[in-house]
Amino acid sequence: MSDIQSFRQSVEAFIAARGWTPTRFGRAIAGDPLFVFDLREGREPRSDTRNRILKAMQEHAEATGHAPLRIGVAGLGNVGATLVRILQKDGEALTRKLGRKVVVTAVCARSRSRDRGIDLTELEWFDDPVALAKSDGIDLFVELIGGEDGPALAAVKAALDIGRPVVTANKALLARHGVALARLAEESGAQLGFEAAVAGGIPVIKTLREGLGSARIERVYGIMNGTCNYILTRMGEESISFAECLEDAQKLGYAEADPTFDVEGYDTAHKLAILSSLCFGCEIAPDEIFVQGISRITQADIKVAGDLGYKIKLLGVAQRSADGIEQRVHPTLVPKTSAIAGVDGVLNAVALETDHVHELLLAGPGAGGPPTASSVLSDILDIARGTKVPPLGVSSHELTPYRQAPMRAHEGGYYIRLNAKDIPGALAAIASRMGAAEISLESVIQRPDLRVTDSAGDGVQTRTVVLLTHSTMEATVRETLAQIADDGFIVGEPQLIRIETL
Ligand SMILES: NC(=O)c1ccc[n+]([C@@H]2O[C@H](COP(=O)([O-])OP(=O)(O)OC[C@H]3O[C@@H](n4cnc5c(N)ncnc54)[C@H](OP(=O)(O)O)[C@@H]3O)[C@@H](O)[C@H]2O)c1
Repeated sequence: MSDIQSFRQSVEAFIAARGWTPTRFGRAIAGDPLFVFDLREGREPRSDTRNRILKAMQEHAEATGHAPLRIGVAGLGNVGATLVRILQKDGEALTRKLGRKVVVTAVCARSRSRDRGIDLTELEWFDDPVALAKSDGIDLFVELIGGEDGPALAAVKAALDIGRPVVTANKALLARHGVALARLAEESGAQLGFEAAVAGGIPVIKTLREGLGSARIERVYGIMNGTCNYILTRMGEESISFAECLEDAQKLGYAEADPTFDVEGYDTAHKLAILSSLCFGCEIAPDEIFVQGISRITQADIKVAGDLGYKIKLLGVAQRSADGIEQRVHPTLVPKTSAIAGVDGVLNAVALETDHVHELLLAGPGAGGPPTASSVLSDILDIARGTKVPPLGVSSHELTPYRQAPMRAHEGGYYIRLNAKDIPGALAAIASRMGAAEISLESVIQRPDLRVTDSAGDGVQTRTVVLLTHSTMEATVRETLAQIADDGFIVGEPQLIRIETL
């Protein structure tokens, strides 16, 4: 950003923070009532005038109680240490933008001696996050510890209780306690920011709360876990197994030592629950989500999907229906030509389908220190500017109770991979069961290169068969597969992947 752009932003932020008119600014700070109008029309002041005005703004801020915004950061891990580093490095630029200084004054973590690559010498140290949250030495509390209960919850509650604004990146905490915390914030008049809790660096919460505040959202879906997207992308590009990809993701720091939370879909479910509430004005319901992860996806699935013009992505999907709201997280076949199919590697994307804007796709880095800290910072700036929005977009008292649409009524096409016994009549019996249930098949694929297991437990040879259905009901598919299993013609559990026509 050029000097003049940054100067213009500082002036506008100064005016907005105080609710002044441009003329008042001109008289009180610039000594020229028309100064802001000239500036807006592109007449640039000389650099010595600019510096004089910046100094006057700073002096005014200090004299009138627009003192620095003092921040306490609890948690100095990946995100917390990055946030402190950015605030220490870019503090001056932020001050110019806001017309007010933003400084970290106190921090808290478990180990005081650990080297985090940041200078903590001037900062007050707390061992207890709750004590930091309540400390008189801060104006805003940032929670970057993690976990849905324990110290994170206690500290966030302690800050909100005394009307202190809070910023957190903690999706587990929000998914579990979001409504109660939003209510607490509203009651005490504190702001609660959680932009970083969903899709890391992508500003989806702000888009929903403010940008699309008046739109009716029909469906939200997206890729919200970078670890899963990285694994599925590499399986597609390099023909390697899920286990090999996961090991690499762990080596590269994209996956945790215990990857269950990510690869089994629970992390995506937490984020989806928060998005559903913001999109549909309902309470947050993380336990009402159908969740299926990616650990059963094989090379055969990736290969066939690719040959048929699809990619496999772990999607979180929430949509309105006449029966309520349907929330689900599962691997999905998406057309290669769709925008979301192009979101590869560790990137995330969230698509919002609305009445007037139609589809909006936000894509970008969903995790990592700098992108996540940047979203935390965006909340801090909003609070410093005095922006006031209910945490969940509407007052927590206006949220409707969550009403779950029955998942098993989901309609759409399905990819079914099964291991049929290699005996006469097996395929005909499977096809006949499908026909009787009025499941119309788009394709039946049998290729030697798709073999998933070599033989059944009892020594009977099997063939891997992939069936692609036209649109049908999930309950019908599941019942028919259960009958096919009872008939004794297949071995093991069939792989069922939904197809979305996006
Ligand atoms: N990492 C990402 O890419 C990302 C993306 C989006 C959202 N988030 C969210 O951001 C939050 C932080 O994630 P992170 O990756 O930065 O975690 P992290 O690297 O594990 O850091 C956690 C920090 O919390 C501190 N801590 C843990 N228990 C504590 C306690 N009882 N008292 C005081 N401090 C305590 C740890 O102290 P020590 O360092 O002394 O052990 C550490 O500094 C989580 O809610 C996470 O879900 C992270």
